[in-house]
Amino acid sequence: MGRTQVVSLIGNREKVNLEQTDYYAGIMGDSPSKGARSPALWNAAFKGLGISAMMHPMDVTAEQLGDLIKALRSDSRFIGGAVAVPYKQDVMQLLDAVEDEAETIGAVNCIYRDGGRLVGTNTDGAGGVQSLMNGLGEHSLKGRRILIMGIGGAGRAVATYVAAGLGPSGGLVLANRTAGVAESLAERLKRYCSVRTSAMPVKVGDLEDKDVIINCSLIGYGSVFSDQTGSYTLEPYTPLGPVDGRTRVAPGEGVKRRFVQEAKGSILKNLEASLDAFQHIREGAFLFDIIHQPAQTTLLRLAECHGMAVLNGVGMNLYQAVIAFQKATGASKIRSGPEKEVWETMLNAGK
Ligand SMILES: NC(=O)c1ccc[n+]([C@@H]2O[C@H](COP(=O)([O-])OP(=O)(O)OC[C@H]3O[C@@H](n4cnc5c(N)ncnc54)[C@H](OP(=O)(O)O)[C@@H]3O)[C@@H](O)[C@H]2O)c1
Repeated sequence: MGRTQVVSLIGNREKVNLEQTDYYAGIMGDSPSKGARSPALWNAAFKGLGISAMMHPMDVTAEQLGDLIKALRSDSRFIGGAVAVPYKQDVMQLLDAVEDEAETIGAVNCIYRDGGRLVGTNTDGAGGVQSLMNGLGEHSLKGRRILIMGIGGAGRAVATYVAAGLGPSGGLVLANRTAGVAESLAERLKRYCSVRTSAMPVKVGDLEDKDVIINCSLIGYGSVFSDQTGSYTLEPYTPLGPVDGRTRVAPGEGVKRRFVQEAKGSILKNLEASLDAFQHIREGAFLFDIIHQPAQTTLLRLAECHGMAVLNGVGMNLYQAVIAFQKATGASKIRSGPEKEVWETMLNAGK
């Protein structure tokens, strides 16, 4: 068990050297080695603050995630880190404890070491709402009408913080492809504000009166996904139109190019419906797409063309990373210092 086993369980192992620093952190996901931003942010903070530690991307399969967590737990030089798509739910049962808030949200995006235990928490909600308020130039969300599309791990985290910020005079609509997920979250958030659920893609009536529209779904995300039937991407689509998720192409060179050609019909249908949907968004509405890769999704581009004020997920990614870094380094007792210092080192790396 330990470091050698950690490396043997990682898909991108040839680029990972855990011996070069006293401590290390990890971001675990399907393919964080292909574009996750956390390593650049955390490593800038480690360097800027003079800590001998490094965050490594850890590409891991669903089958090996449990063994990886076990190996990381047994190595006291591992301080924690981040959890990326698609393991934010799966990882919960593999940890020794999960903080109450992450339990309510139903997803963990940050792990920290508490002695011999690995504990899960969630920093997406706080990071998302902080970034949204900065984008709006406001200190409060009170009384606003907000639509959130996509109630996965990040969507539940953002919705929980948004609902608390809206208060009893605010209205929230939760839209998700799988209806039950949105319904059970709505039940839990009713104590904060008025909440109802909707289907994906949303109906005209869900758009018309909204002050803020937020995309928390995977639709528009730049990754290539693979399953037993082949590879696909959701990058060309927007969550405002239908997504026919059946098209697959063979994995390998030029996947995105081949996918776009193969899925041309469904992409065009999605874009046409999206353009129609924009006609029903009121003037002055604000659009927040929490996706940060790519920095400009199709949804954001179209929103800009319609004159909307927009915000991408880059700021949220920075805020949630600052909160997570504080948690992991503080709990492992390798640093205790103000958030502002971390923020400044990460901000420079994120530019
Ligand atoms: N900026 C940041 O800091 C930050 C942080 C976290 C996440 N994110 C971004 O947020 C997005 C979601 O991440 P996550 O962790 O919440 O992922 P997740 O837990 O896997 O949830 C995925 C969400 O997308 C929906 N979805 C997936 N494929 C769909 C399709 N074909 N049609 C309609 N809906 C579909 C899912 O609906 P079902 O429930 O029906 O499956 C679910 O609501 C990702 O793009 C990620 O990059 C950004």
